[in-house]
Amino acid sequence: MQRHGTLSVRVWRGSADGAFQEFPVPRHASQTVLDVVTYIQRALDPTLAYRFACRVGMCGSCAMNVNGAPRWTCRTHVDKVVRNDAIEIAPLRNLPVIRDLVTDMREFFDKWARAKGSFEGSRTRHDPFHEVPPGSENRKQADAGIECIGCGVCYSACDVVKWNPGYLGPAALNRAWTLVTDERDTARAERLRAVAGDAGCHACHTHMECTERCPKGISPTAGIAGLKRETAAFLMKNG
Ligand code: SF4
Ligand code: SF4
Ligand code: FES
Repeated sequence: MQRHGTLSVRVWRGSADGAFQEFPVPRHASQTVLDVVTYIQRALDPTLAYRFACRVGMCGSCAMNVNGAPRWTCRTHVDKVVRNDAIEIAPLRNLPVIRDLVTDMREFFDKWARAKGSFEGSRTRHDPFHEVPPGSENRKQADAGIECIGCGVCYSACDVVKWNPGYLGPAALNRAWTLVTDERDTARAERLRAVAGDAGCHACHTHMECTERCPKGISPTAGIAGLKRETAAFLMKNG
């Protein structure tokens, strides 16, 4: 459908103590929020800082807060979020702002490392493949969370991260769960200890915002519930 008119777009400028700046942007059919940001940067203010790469929902780098909710901007059509011909675009919440719409993701990925989010196997290239049947219960549980692309949308949506900045957060815990349920992984005990502390899975209040917002349809809440069960059983047995 042909679209006409002008959008009023408020965009965050500067660092954490910055402010919104308003830009007029022409509307057109099938316009995404990323198209809007790109138009502003190319036609109105080349100093605007933002990130994107794939434009098709694969890299996760274009995540921003749109009208108060975190989203992939490349997969969000203006028609879906516009209110009274206006949109507000801000950097992701719960992460330090470097400039404008660009956040510092280091703490987010450091937490993956703290949650022992790397696979540790025992086989070498000379061994046969370790097969995990697709129908097995563990495989189904790992598969449910494996498509995470590390976009930070769930992390930005989580209020517990806001109140408790040390909390590992939904993405790192979801990653830990995919490894706890991976039969090939050999670091289960170490990982369960890593996610059991005050900043780990038991800090989750099961608010579900992460699950409601994940563009990949992943439920970090379900994975965290699994970690709560497994850590409790593990610690009871091993102290
Ligand atoms: S769980 Fe979903 S929202 Fe969270 S980082 Fe992964 S893909 Fe993004
Ligand atoms: S379910 Fe847990 S991790 Fe997800 S948003 Fe709520 S408190 Fe955060
Ligand atoms: S630009 Fe890659 S997910 Fe949006």
